[in-house]
Amino acid sequence: MPSSVPNVTLNNGIEVPTLGFGVYQVPPEETEQVVTSALAAGYRHLDTAAAYGNEEAVGRAIAASGISREELFVTTKLWIQDAGEEKARRAFEASLQRLGLDYIDLYLVHQPYGDYFGAWRTMQDLNQQGLVKAIGVSNFYPDRLVDLIEHSEVVPAVNQIETHPFFQRAADQEIMQAKGVQHQSWGPFAEGRNNLFGDPVLSDIGAAHGKSVAQVVLRWLIQRDVVVIPKSVRPDRMAENIDVFDFALTDDELNGIAGMDAGSSLFFDHRDPAMVSLIGTRRIHD
Ligand SMILES: NC(=O)c1ccc[n+]([C@@H]2O[C@H](COP(=O)([O-])OP(=O)(O)OC[C@H]3O[C@@H](n4cnc5c(N)ncnc54)[C@H](OP(=O)(O)O)[C@@H]3O)[C@@H](O)[C@H]2O)c1
Repeated sequence: MPSSVPNVTLNNGIEVPTLGFGVYQVPPEETEQVVTSALAAGYRHLDTAAAYGNEEAVGRAIAASGISREELFVTTKLWIQDAGEEKARRAFEASLQRLGLDYIDLYLVHQPYGDYFGAWRTMQDLNQQGLVKAIGVSNFYPDRLVDLIEHSEVVPAVNQIETHPFFQRAADQEIMQAKGVQHQSWGPFAEGRNNLFGDPVLSDIGAAHGKSVAQVVLRWLIQRDVVVIPKSVRPDRMAENIDVFDFALTDDELNGIAGMDAGSSLFFDHRDPAMVSLIGTRRIHD
């Protein structure tokens, strides 16, 4: 087992492991085994969402693991269909039940669409009641993030956004840091797009440290104070991805990676009206 993963402290004093495990696109029927393997590899921070359809399987793996609840950090997310004060409370209770837990460590607004102000008021209440240890958002560009902050009681603890070598978000991170919002990366490997795993800059840096491209990318994000949640269904890669705490990138190497930033999404722009309609109207339940 690799050395333990360090924590960072969120703006409300709650600690989160800097490296966790994501289960997006893991089919529900495979998720229990995959999460069981991730826990065995040493991951204690899990990232799921109501929209991933695999919360129940994550819950079964947690229950079967015998790991004490305090050792785990579990994130799930509220889908757009459930934005709004009352719907958010019902959706939270459904997520909690599917996960088989009596509290969630981090509850995120999954997308900046619909009545997320209403959802946020409910999340603030859940936080105050201790049912959620920290609340945050995902996919918020700085304008919407700052708007939410200016008109709410609780500042989001986290903003989980697409962040990888081709879309680095340095300016967004500066704003988040100024506001006390922890930057969390989704898609740290850009899901392998742009030939990330064969990239020559990343490969050369990896060779200098005896590390893989995946390890270089995770290390780079962690050195930038970004919390990471890589996904893999393969135990060998789970072990590789958590083994990033025994080396450090030099300033020259960090500058080399900085040069890879293309400054735009490899997936879709959350501000594109067509995508706002498409994603914003996706339903995940009746
Ligand atoms: N908030 C949001 O809107 C949002 C959106 C997307 C993702 N997320 C979260 O972020 C997590 C991570 O992002 P992601 O799953 O989209 O993509 P990712 O972690 O960037 O990439 C996952 C891909 O990389 C491969 N991979 C993993 N480790 C590898 C390694 N060491 N060497 C070579 N290939 C490797 C995986 O293949 P195998 O599985 O076959 O190993 C998979 O195809 C998600 O699981 C989810 O929890 C959130």
